Amino acid sequence: MKTLVDNTDDIYYLGSDDTELTLFENQYKVPNGISYNSYLIVDEKCVVMDTSDECVKDEWLEKLEEALDGRSPDYLVVSHMEPDHSANVLAFLEKYKDAKLIVNAKTLTLMNQFFGESYEDISLVVKDGDTLNIGKHELQFIFAPMVHWPEVMVTFDKTSGTLFSADAFGTFGALNGDICNAGDDWAREASRYYINIVGKYGVPVSNLLKKAEQLEIKRICALHGPILCGNLTPYLECYKNWSSYKADLEGTLILYASLHGNTKNTALCLAKKLQEKGEYVALVDLTTDDIAATVAKTFRFRKLALFSATYENDIMPAMHDYLYRLRLKGCRGKKVAVVENGSWGPVAGKRIVEALNEMQDMEVIAPIITIKTCMNKENGCQLDEMAKKILEA
Ligand code: FEO
Repeated sequence: MKTLVDNTDDIYYLGSDDTELTLFENQYKVPNGISYNSYLIVDEKCVVMDTSDECVKDEWLEKLEEALDGRSPDYLVVSHMEPDHSANVLAFLEKYKDAKLIVNAKTLTLMNQFFGESYEDISLVVKDGDTLNIGKHELQFIFAPMVHWPEVMVTFDKTSGTLFSADAFGTFGALNGDICNAGDDWAREASRYYINIVGKYGVPVSNLLKKAEQLEIKRICALHGPILCGNLTPYLECYKNWSSYKADLEGTLILYASLHGNTKNTALCLAKKLQEKGEYVALVDLTTDDIAATVAKTFRFRKLALFSATYENDIMPAMHDYLYRLRLKGCRGKKVAVVENGSWGPVAGKRIVEALNEMQDMEVIAPIITIKTCMNKENGCQLDEMAKKILEA
């Protein structure tokens, strides 16, 4: 069955769900699957917007053929060469021998690396801002380098107000046929997707948003997740906040890595003290909670409290992994409180601060509290002081 994109009469959705995948990019859990999106604009010229992942090749080719309804595609726009979108370029070219590719110079380089040929002779190579009239629709190609790879470009269909945004504004989760339903909880999974996949590239994303402000966008068609339509302001605001590393959740995020439960109990004690003062607190057990969700939450809170047991004269591996990922993703601008535990040689606090110092603008807002095995009365008073500093931060 052919599926039209929201309120259009000639733009078709060709995407497919993958509900078998367990780890996206072989590292991010996708318990609700993922969609690989692709689109077709039918006009005097027919333009395909990206292919799809290898695992849905046959389904994608069938959907394309059905939407074409006997016509042949004139162009395939390759927005992004990561295999979840470009895996079927060669199958497309094999089937539609007269079609041309729309790419940029960097795309050609990557095509050569992936496929062993440049394909320049069958490509329309565009520059940033170039336009293409395909009949009723006029397409504009806007470069978005590092959102998420260097060759990425988005396409704005001036006629329908549709932004084909590549990976930007994407999210995890299969669509199950509900292609325009972002739901009220879009930001939670969209932030896990954005911050872990594109989060390091805040400046390029901000640059793309500035370009997008000049466009009259009615809907956003990303390469993963639902088509965004209706009031786009909440989605654009999320991206503005996330790309500028601005926290958009109020309260304190408390994260702990505990060996036998005593460090955890201390974290729960601080949480209680903060909650009694009216502070919203979110708790994360670094040893069990999804690390990608935790990294995303961290970006969205301004205030953190980190608790770690000392382990092998260092920090708990779960805390180490967490801090490593924060640095990798360019986390910055947090107010941080630190609590260490160590029965005979506590060093976790020092190690945490060393890791924070490798990031930008991470401020330790209270003296490190040292727990010797179990929290004692003095520690309780120290936590009161720490809670006060957190509330003032
Ligand atoms: Fe969905 Fe960067 O590929």
